[in-house]
Amino acid sequence: MLPSRSSFPPGFLFGAATSAYQVEGHAFGGAGGTHWDTFAATPGNVVRAENGARACDHYHRWGEDLDLLRAGNFDVYRFSTSWARVMPEGRGRVNAEGLDFYDRLVDGMLARGLKPALTLYHWELPSPLADLGGWRNRDIAGWFGDFTEVVARRLGDRLWSAAPINEPWCVGWLSHFLGQHAPGMRDIRATARAMHHVLLAHGTAIKVMRGLGMKNLGAVCNFEYAAPADASPEAAAAAQLYDAYYNRFFISGMFRGEYPAELMAAFAPHLPEGWQDDFATIRAPLDWFGLNYYTRKLIAPAPGPWPAHREVEGPLPKTDVGWEIFPEGLHHFLRMAQEYTGELPLYVTENGMAAPDRLAAGSVHDADRIAYLAAHLRQCQRAIAEGVPLRGYFCWSLLDNYEWSLGYDKRFGLVHVDFATLRRVPKASYHALATALQR
Ligand code: FCB
Repeated sequence: MLPSRSSFPPGFLFGAATSAYQVEGHAFGGAGGTHWDTFAATPGNVVRAENGARACDHYHRWGEDLDLLRAGNFDVYRFSTSWARVMPEGRGRVNAEGLDFYDRLVDGMLARGLKPALTLYHWELPSPLADLGGWRNRDIAGWFGDFTEVVARRLGDRLWSAAPINEPWCVGWLSHFLGQHAPGMRDIRATARAMHHVLLAHGTAIKVMRGLGMKNLGAVCNFEYAAPADASPEAAAAAQLYDAYYNRFFISGMFRGEYPAELMAAFAPHLPEGWQDDFATIRAPLDWFGLNYYTRKLIAPAPGPWPAHREVEGPLPKTDVGWEIFPEGLHHFLRMAQEYTGELPLYVTENGMAAPDRLAAGSVHDADRIAYLAAHLRQCQRAIAEGVPLRGYFCWSLLDNYEWSLGYDKRFGLVHVDFATLRRVPKASYHALATALQR
């Protein structure tokens, strides 16, 4: 059973999240091409080479989707703006139709009593910027600052919160070292530079928004619990290295102005010249910090070049994308974040699971998802009881949507979407949450 709203401190906020490319339908409204379109069009990258051209058609059905949030008793909608929808070439020309869309969306939230929580960038880099090297090019900090200014000038007076970049680890490591996300690179130099430039762009955007008088500015990072695969010191070291580049690099940069020492031997030769001086920008003060959390990994040493480790399949029950269910990890990271963020308000900005949902007789009985959410909410309560300043929890995701390299195969939504008809059907988890949030 899901813990009720009244079992959380007064004012604790509940929300649901989506992102632009995953739900809007990028073919609509004059949006420019992105590196996800070309990544998806390249064989082997995405299941069935699917892309976000239509997705959930949130671009036209946003009113219905906001009604679902309202009727589900949510307080916050965490959404993102597509850079290529607002500025199709990434720089210069603004697509008025795109900006108007987000303007309507924000007003639609306010009209329904929902707090708009903006993420400026959730992964759809405009192709012309990808052509210039994308996140590998230091100039991206300035380009991103300009995009931020365009969005902030239009929406900034009505947002509840804003964060520059969703999950820097995915933008950096997953996309440039593992090659699993656009632009699909596998190169250590590209990785080190992209990871640093993401932080530089983050700090630049925060400065721009502060300069415009915006409030409640934060950051959203993802965390994955790294457990040694066995009791050997080698496995412990391997897990510690994984933890350093996954869980500590970005938060350490933002809050301490330094990178984890374990990474320096491999990374320092590839970081852009004068990188240490960028911390003045990267450390721009924040008002809150957001954690996205889903799973843990078992890490073992492996032969080969740095980082010389591999993932090992773990024994815990798994979600439909094969991720182990490990709720205690969320508690661990809420405590760990505090080492860096101190008294700053924390939010769980994403948590949820992919389940093998079946629509039968007009409903989806996703008892597994309800149990997942309940277990993670209880870990939130445990952290709160210990004094962690956690102020809200947002589910991923409101809707089944385009799950990146997994295409439309894997369903994370509280609301089922039939991708042929685009019909929305709230699942049992949606109804259970709506009830819990009323009590
Ligand atoms: C997170 C992403 C989100 C979605 C979930 C499952 O890493 O932020 O877009 O893909 O994972």
